[in-house]
Amino acid sequence: MIIAVDGPAASGKGTLASGLARHYGLPHLDTGLLYRAVGLASAAAVDGPDLEPTAIAAARSLDAGQLTDLDALTAAETGVLASKVAVIAEVRAALFDFQRNFALQPGGAVLDGRDIGTKICPDADAKLFIQADSKARMERRARQLEARGVAVDRYALFHQIEERDARDMLNPNGGFYPAPDAHLLDTTLMGIEAALRAAIAVVETALALKAGGQSPS
Ligand code: CDP
Ligand code: CDP
Repeated sequence: MIIAVDGPAASGKGTLASGLARHYGLPHLDTGLLYRAVGLASAAAVDGPDLEPTAIAAARSLDAGQLTDLDALTAAETGVLASKVAVIAEVRAALFDFQRNFALQPGGAVLDGRDIGTKICPDADAKLFIQADSKARMERRARQLEARGVAVDRYALFHQIEERDARDMLNPNGGFYPAPDAHLLDTTLMGIEAALRAAIAVVETALALKAGGQSPS
């Protein structure tokens, strides 16, 4: 069983994907970490003429050891670097096999990101596209960072998230839109437990429709 969870920055897709993985006993991949690792490895070249070749080389030589420094990877600035390397088609192509192989492991997997339902796993058994109001998302990310002792300028964070969302949505190579068979889940007014219950209900419905030979759309 493959479950695809997509959505904009700080929509709660990672938290939901990890809850779904726990519920169904499946492994989980946060695909944003791959782009964040490539962004970090290309930081010295960002906004300069060498960004493309640097990022492409970094994506092609990425290894699992680069996905462990969560403090550096999850920093807000690293998200911006990630979205700048994520527009490069060759970077996306270089990261494709790792994600696809993770999805195809025996028993299945849960993956979260931007293009899981559209590009990485168009064949997923259940697809969720998580939405939440941008102020709610900013507040969630602010509290998440503050819980780690990071000082947050909410005004700057709001604009940074909006700018990153815009870059992601306009990314011609990105596939960041709900797949036609994705279920939209707006969690603006939901806590984590309520959102997880709603997501499980979506997955159960998708599985039941599949077992009955019907398409969810
Ligand atoms: O993966 P993504 O960037 O979409 O978001 P996340 O890291 O899963 O969630 C961002 C923050 O929002 C985390 O601290 C979650 O605990 C919190 N959250 C929330 O407050 N309410 C939800 N319904 C979902 C997540
Ligand atoms: O957790 P949050 O939504 O803030 O970010 P993330 O999921 O870690 O992704 C960081 C950046 O990587 C995004 O803003 C996208 O530019 C890029 N990304 C992507 O292009 N495709 C994916 N499947 C995942 C992330």
